[in-house]
Amino acid sequence: MATYKRPDGREYDETRKIEAKVGVVKRADGSAMFSFGSSRAIAAVYGPRQLHPQHLQNPEKCLLRCYYDMLPFSVAERKRPGPSRRSTEISYVTTSALSPVLKLEAFPNAVIDVYILIIEADASTRCAGINAASLALAHAGVPMTELVSAVSIGKIGDAIVADITKEEEDYKIKKDGKEIKAATDIPMAILSRANKLSLLQLDGKVTLDELKEAIALGKKTCKKIVEIQKQALKKVKEE
Ligand code: CDP
Repeated sequence: MATYKRPDGREYDETRKIEAKVGVVKRADGSAMFSFGSSRAIAAVYGPRQLHPQHLQNPEKCLLRCYYDMLPFSVAERKRPGPSRRSTEISYVTTSALSPVLKLEAFPNAVIDVYILIIEADASTRCAGINAASLALAHAGVPMTELVSAVSIGKIGDAIVADITKEEEDYKIKKDGKEIKAATDIPMAILSRANKLSLLQLDGKVTLDELKEAIALGKKTCKKIVEIQKQALKKVKEE
């Protein structure tokens, strides 16, 4: 039995409060907001539309471009505006997490741009961004095989927990009089129907069994998340 106690009193398999809303940016072709507690992302989709310059066009399929960024005051220590190594990496992994569900061959020579902005950050923002982007793409009417859902699973102390916060990401224990990091962050994106992962990252150390446990918890959590996403889409259709 694990002994780690979550600072906010959550169960190991419990996420923070999830909010999802579709149609939050009127001028976009599709848009959505998704939050885990105060980690909040807005995604706006533009396209599919003809790609310029022409030499970038692919006659076989549409280009998907995702841009992840955080507001300067979304974090405790002001983030310098503009792209960074971190935002470039997250934009890249977001694109590859979403691509497997999109029927990009339906739009040759076209582009879909997905802008993801983090309004407030308390860890797991790439996952909140993927969830918002997946909803925004569906709202834009892009043909998809299913929605993508993402969550950050962590090994914090001796426990595998769902939807970690910044405080948990920074969790340390005392060993031989020294403070050492005792947190591993494992963000993942799941295609629930296909039972496949489209993103798996690992920052820290885990054993193979712990990784299997983390993936199982990720899949279980994403089954709940996808239902919330579906409800949000249903709501906007009814409006
Ligand atoms: O947000 P996510 O967990 O996907 O990515 P991360 O790179 O592991 O960042 C974890 C958290 O660190 C972010 O969600 C923010 O709360 C915080 N952070 C920050 O305070 N300042 C930055 N420049 C970047 C991240």
